[in-house]
Amino acid sequence: MQKDRPLSLSKFWHGGDYNPEQWLETPHILEEDVRLMHLAQVNQVTVGVFSWASLQPDEEVFEFDWLDQIMDRMYDHHIDVILATPSGARPAWLAERYPEVLRVGPDGQRNFYGERHNHCFTSPEYRRLTQRINYRLAERYAQHPALKLWHISNEFSGECYCPLCQEAFRDWLRRRYGDLESLNRAWWTRFWSHTYQSWSQIAPPSPRGTGSLNGLSLDWKRFVTDQTVDFILSERKPLTLLTPNLPVTTNFMGTIPGLNYWKLAQVLDVISWDSYPRWHSEGSETDLACSVAFSHDLNRSLKQGQPFLLMESTPSMTNWQAVSKLKRPGMHLLSSLQAVAHGSDSVQYFQWRKSRGGSEKFHGAVVDHVGNEHTRVFADVRDTGSALKELSRIAGSRIHSEVAVIYDWENRWAIEGAYGPRREGRDYLPTCEAHYRAFWRLGTSVDVIDSEQDLSAYRVVVAPMLYMVRTGVDKRLEQFVEQGGTLILTYWSGIVDDSDLCFLGGVPGPLRRLTGILVEEIDALTDTDVNALVPVMPNHLGLLGSYALRTFCERIHPETATVLGHYGSDFYAKEPVLTVNSYGRGSVYYMAARAEQRFLDDFYCGLSRELHLERALDTPPPEGLSLSVRTHDETQWLFAMNFSIEPRIVDIGQNPQVELISGLEAKGAVTLEPFGVAVFERPLAH
Ligand code: GLA
Ligand code: ZN
Repeated sequence: MQKDRPLSLSKFWHGGDYNPEQWLETPHILEEDVRLMHLAQVNQVTVGVFSWASLQPDEEVFEFDWLDQIMDRMYDHHIDVILATPSGARPAWLAERYPEVLRVGPDGQRNFYGERHNHCFTSPEYRRLTQRINYRLAERYAQHPALKLWHISNEFSGECYCPLCQEAFRDWLRRRYGDLESLNRAWWTRFWSHTYQSWSQIAPPSPRGTGSLNGLSLDWKRFVTDQTVDFILSERKPLTLLTPNLPVTTNFMGTIPGLNYWKLAQVLDVISWDSYPRWHSEGSETDLACSVAFSHDLNRSLKQGQPFLLMESTPSMTNWQAVSKLKRPGMHLLSSLQAVAHGSDSVQYFQWRKSRGGSEKFHGAVVDHVGNEHTRVFADVRDTGSALKELSRIAGSRIHSEVAVIYDWENRWAIEGAYGPRREGRDYLPTCEAHYRAFWRLGTSVDVIDSEQDLSAYRVVVAPMLYMVRTGVDKRLEQFVEQGGTLILTYWSGIVDDSDLCFLGGVPGPLRRLTGILVEEIDALTDTDVNALVPVMPNHLGLLGSYALRTFCERIHPETATVLGHYGSDFYAKEPVLTVNSYGRGSVYYMAARAEQRFLDDFYCGLSRELHLERALDTPPPEGLSLSVRTHDETQWLFAMNFSIEPRIVDIGQNPQVELISGLEAKGAVTLEPFGVAVFERPLAH
C-alpha cells in the first residue's frame, strides 16, 4: 500500500462543481463566470465530473481545447482546480460499441444506454476505456499549476449482476474459501438444500433466486465493495503513473448502506463527501444537525482525523428531495461552517451555475438562470466565502476525540439482512446516532469508526448493537478495557461471526466475559408496547426515576456484572436491564434494552462526569446549540452553532476572545441568534 499524499491547504476551499462544457456555445457566460466567482469569494472549482462526451466525442477523437482554456483561466484568476475523471457517465458511442459496459440488474436484465452511475465495474473494456481517458487527462494536465487534486468518477454506488461480475464474484469466493466445502460450511448451505456441488452453480443473491442465505448476501456485499475498490485502483493507475504527487479522492455519500467506505478510504489520499440534509423538513432541526454531524465525524475518522472536504452541498435547495425547501436565512452559513467545525477544509457546492436543461435545471446553484449576483443565494454564498477567509488559519487543524462510536458497515449489512427479531425498526444506524447524540449535546467530540480500527487513543468506546463480532474484534475490545477503557455494549450484540453464523454456547458469544452477563432471550415489542428501566438507587451515574424502553428487551443473567437497573413491567419485571462489569482496569456497561434518548443523555452525562471527559466548555450547552473545537499547536477554535429557532446563549468565560467572523472581541455570555454561528479563537490552555 502506498503512502497517503494528504492535501495540505493553507486556506479553506470555497467552490464546487463547475460544468463549463454545458456552456461552450456561449463564451461570454464562461467569461462572466470568472467575474462572478471572484465576487462569490470562490477559490476552487471541480471540473470534468460528467464531461466524457465533450472530451472524447468519438473513440479516436479527443477534444481538450475547451478544458485547456478553463484550466488556464482558473489559474490566471487564482482558482484551484479539482479535476474529475469522467467515468460517472459515458458517451453514447462507447455504450453502443461496447455493450458490456452497461450494468445488469438483479433480474438479469441489461440496462439501456443512458443516465449515469450505471456502468459495470468488472468490464475489461470499461476499465481499458477509463484508463485511456484518464491517461490522456493526466498527460495533458500533469504540470498544470491549477490542478491540485484528482476526483475519481462520482459517488460510487450500486451493483452489477452481469456474467463478468458473477464470474469475478466466484473468483473472489475461491480466494476467500479455497474449497467448496468451506464455503458450504460458512454459508450453512444444508439449510433448504442449498449445498453447492460446483462453483459455477453460485449466483449472487437475487429476488428471483436466493435471498435467504445470509452468508451469501453478506459475501456479495463484501465483493461489491472490493470490486469497487479494484475499479478505483484501475482508474488510479494512469494518474499515479503520470502525477505521482497529486492526491486522489472520490466523493462519498455519508452513511449510505451499500459500500464499506473504510475499504475505499485505503485507496484514496483524501476523504470527501456530499451532504444534502433536508433542512426545515419534518422533525427538529437539532436532530437533523446531529445526524449530519455524525456523518462529518465519520468522514473525518476515515483517515484518522485528517481534514476532509465537503465536496458537495447545495447553496439553496435540491431538486430531488420529496419537498425541496429553500434554506432559511442563516442556515447556509451555519450548515457550511458545521462541516468546518467537524473537520472539513472546504465548503463546496453542487453546482456553480444552474444548468439550462436536463433533470438538474431546478437544482440549487450559486448562479441562477437570471445569471447575475443579485440573488439571496448568491449573497449567502459570498458571505460564506468571506467568513471562510476570516477563518483561513483554521485550515489543516485537527480535532481531538476521547470517545469513539462504532458504526460498522458489515455489521449493518448483517443486521439488515437478518430475519428477526422484528421485521421493521431494527434501526442500527439511528441507534448509533442516538448514542452519539448524547455526546454531541454535551459538546464532547466523537470519532465514528468501525470495529476494525485501533482503539488505543480512546477512553470510551460505544459499540451499539454489535451483532457481528468478527475475528479479532473481541480480543481488541478486551485489550482496550483491560488497559482502562470504558466500553458500552447493548442488546443484540455478540450474535454472529464473520460468516453470519450464530455463536453457540450463549449470547453475547465472545463478549460474554467482557460483559459478565448471559443473554437468555430477546423480546421484540410492538410499536405501542413500552417497558421501563428503573435504576438501582443510588447509583454513581446519577440516574433518577424511570426511563421508557421500546422495541427490544433482552432477558439477561448477570454472571460477574453488577446490576444498575431493572425492568419495570411485564413478566420480566424486576429482572436486570442495565449492568456494569469490571474487567482489567476498565469497565463494560451493558444496556439490555432500547432506552429513550433521555436515558442515553443522562447515562452519558453521568459517565462523562465520572470520567472527566473533555468538553468544548465546562457547562453543557442548551438544547440546539452545538459546540465543536479544532486545535492547532497552542491555539484552539471554538465553533458555537445554534440550530434552534430561538436565540441561545453560550458562556465563553471571562477571558476576552476574538470572534473571527465578525472580528469583534467577546467574553462572558454571548447570544447566538436562531441559526447563528460564531467562532472564538483562544489559547489552548484556556
Ligand atoms: C450528487 C451528485 C451531483 C448532483 C447532486 C445533486 O451529489 O454527485 O452530480 O447530482 O447529487 O444534489
Ligand atoms: Zn458487471
